[in-house]
Amino acid sequence: MTDIPALRLQDIVKTFPGVRALDGVSFQVMPGEVHALLGENGAGKSTLMKVLGGIHQPDEGKIFIAEQPAIMKSPLDAKSKGVVFIHQELSLADELSAAENIYLGELPRKSFGRVDWKTLYEKSDAILARLKCSFDSRKLVGDLSIANKQMVEIARALTVDAKAVIFDEPTASLTDAEKVVLFDVINDLRSDGVGVVYISHRMDEIFTISDKISVLRDGSYRGSLVTADTDEDEVTKLMIGRSLDSENPIVPAKKGPIALEVQGLSCGDLFQNVSFKVHEGEVVGFYGLVGAGRTEIAETLFGLRAPSAGKILLEGKEVKIASPIEAIGHGISLVPEDRKGQGLVLGMNCKDNMTLPQISDLTAGPFVSDGAEVAIFDQYRDRLQIKTPGWRQKVGNLSGGNQQKIVIGKWLSMAPKVLIVDEPTRGIDVGSKAEIHNLIRDLASQGYAVIVISSEMPEVLRVSDRVVAMFHGEIIREFTSDEVNEDNLVQAISGIRTTKVA
Ligand SMILES: Nc1ncnc2c1ncn2[C@@H]1O[C@H](COP(=O)(O)OP(=O)(O)OP(=O)(O)O)[C@@H](O)[C@H]1O
Ligand SMILES: [Mg+2]
Repeated sequence: MTDIPALRLQDIVKTFPGVRALDGVSFQVMPGEVHALLGENGAGKSTLMKVLGGIHQPDEGKIFIAEQPAIMKSPLDAKSKGVVFIHQELSLADELSAAENIYLGELPRKSFGRVDWKTLYEKSDAILARLKCSFDSRKLVGDLSIANKQMVEIARALTVDAKAVIFDEPTASLTDAEKVVLFDVINDLRSDGVGVVYISHRMDEIFTISDKISVLRDGSYRGSLVTADTDEDEVTKLMIGRSLDSENPIVPAKKGPIALEVQGLSCGDLFQNVSFKVHEGEVVGFYGLVGAGRTEIAETLFGLRAPSAGKILLEGKEVKIASPIEAIGHGISLVPEDRKGQGLVLGMNCKDNMTLPQISDLTAGPFVSDGAEVAIFDQYRDRLQIKTPGWRQKVGNLSGGNQQKIVIGKWLSMAPKVLIVDEPTRGIDVGSKAEIHNLIRDLASQGYAVIVISSEMPEVLRVSDRVVAMFHGEIIREFTSDEVNEDNLVQAISGIRTTKVA
């Protein structure tokens, strides 16, 4: 192994209007090293990597690739210098095929510059096969699931002889099986001597895959640790400047009357014969593997899918919910899993995004009360610790995690009767995660009925009064918070029915 870094960033400064995103950051990755980059939402991780990847030009500082000074004029330029970037916000063209996306800007050509389609599809299919993807590379990206889009984004990185590969929160929408494939790919890159940067808020992943950890805080470099010699607590301290307060034990909610009841609900082959109740003042956690049908149930309750059988009752009365507008009218809110696609208008400012659904409530006559909206925004900015220079900032300019907090704030601020949150802390840093858990508990204690869908077991165990375990579109078991533990929950979501069937 050589002692020349695969990449080195020196004293990088990057400012945006009102924000000093990077304040003289130095960072290096050795060949064959998987280097995790950690920090709170808005710490500057993506910005640092966008400087390296040619998306932003630094105000100050230098970049070296194998100790050769490099200026990254554009993402394609960076790629030609051996730096590839797998983005947090997917950057694919929906109207093109997977193959065209994989080789975008460098399609294989025959004489006279004509695209060599046969070679394109063959090469793309081979890369997708390496990623164990079963879809055809001719398929339009717009028709792929988020997870498959993510795989296309990864496939794109494998087309070049990379010196450094950057993964910016690559697992957010992957199933566990896809994660295993991704980690195989990363291990291959490591053995090929590629320098890998891995950004994630999931500590379990960081400790599984990385060799070294570097931490950013408020745009500054805070230090590096060797993964094998450290632990979560030390990393957290470096990230947020303190240990994580051990979360308060949950106070069991005072259960009120039944707010929502679902009887024998089915939706094609997505889920079947699902029945459950959620009381006012109660948090019910839905746990299961990706694809178990949890999101589809939420979407049905929110009027995004039509059930093929069964009933939905609110406060004991049967309701038909044909659209999200009707759902909102009945007091049901959904914080969606795919917040980028369904939750935000990136070109609009923070305040308007947060208060969008309730404009009618705040409108006095024809005029929307700006002051009332700003007050709502300020309240949730403080509670969710949203990092932004002010409410006028475009949501598209916030860091990934802070964008998510805007969506969560938007639905919380509507004070729904039934609140459904799908993967509430995906992409959220450890400190804010605890805050969101507390918020969910607070909502319950104020009498809201809350459904939390999550694939993180500690989260489900942490926030739920009751846990519903799903497997292949069915409810396998229901647990009270006294009964539930890691073992019986793992068994249930693997389809093992035990004595007590819901
Ligand atoms: N294009 C932009 N215009 C204005 N401000 C920006 C822009 N891009 C990033 N910022 C700001 O720079 C800071 C760092 O953002 P960055 O996206 O690098 O954070 P991050 O560490 O990746 O966070 P997350 O974990 O939430 O993804 C944030 O305050 C963000 O709002
Ligand atoms: Mg980021």
